[in-house]
Amino acid sequence: MSQSPVPSGADGAAVFSDIADRYDRLNTILSFGRDKAWRERAAAFLPAGHLLDLGAGTGAGNPAFGERFITALDPSLPMLARNDAARRVAAAGERLPFADEAFDGVFSAFVFRNLTSVEDTLVEIHRILRPLGTAVIVDLSRPIGKVQRELHRAGSAVFVPLVGWLAGAPGEYRYLDESLDKLPPPEELYAGGPLSLEQTWRMGPFGFVYGAVLRKEFRFVSPPGRAKRAQRGEGTAVPKAQG
Ligand SMILES: C[S@@+](CC[C@H](N)C(=O)[O-])C[C@H]1O[C@@H](n2cnc3c(N)ncnc32)[C@H](O)[C@@H]1O
Repeated sequence: MSQSPVPSGADGAAVFSDIADRYDRLNTILSFGRDKAWRERAAAFLPAGHLLDLGAGTGAGNPAFGERFITALDPSLPMLARNDAARRVAAAGERLPFADEAFDGVFSAFVFRNLTSVEDTLVEIHRILRPLGTAVIVDLSRPIGKVQRELHRAGSAVFVPLVGWLAGAPGEYRYLDESLDKLPPPEELYAGGPLSLEQTWRMGPFGFVYGAVLRKEFRFVSPPGRAKRAQRGEGTAVPKAQG
């Protein structure tokens, strides 16, 4: 595994680098063992072919992808080092080091709250998807109803940092709880962006996990300079681990 500097635009990755060795276990505890089922339900919407797993982390999504060819992208090298995907690339979602229309589908689970820019990342996903390609996003949010939202807020403020404290990472998991309020609900977040929002659904207790299917339906003219910067490439190919 080559030791390369973490690419720029990857501030949200530092927190995961610190807990990479405990991430999968903590994720299972915090989701009551449901995270696998949430990814699987979302992955059912993906097309066959070449898939980009954006913010792939340790590769927890890989079993849900079947025979597809996977490019796993993540700015955190300690997370990526645990991923057994066919191709691994150290880069951030805001600047994807890939050619236009290179992928049939994009999958991203539990990443969007950590992005430096959702807007830039959606423009990049649109650029690297083939026409009519699909992006499937899974992330945590707050429940829809006011009462459920407040109950969930009160519960997560205690439960999430407690699990983090027991795991020896209190700061990281306080961050996770705070990030739940960072973005608007998916219907708002993805409306009017470069990709068309086809459907959303809710999962988990009070529906605090959402899935969203987005499609590339038209040509989007990205702001000058962005596509060129991305094509120059900010990513670092990570050789596959031996053994
Ligand atoms: C909660 S983990 C999710 C990992 C994996 N997708 C899963 O389902 O378990 C969030 C991941 O997003 C990555 N990340 C943070 N900032 C990012 C960015 N700007 N672009 C892409 N990935 C990012 C982190 O390094 C981390 O691996």
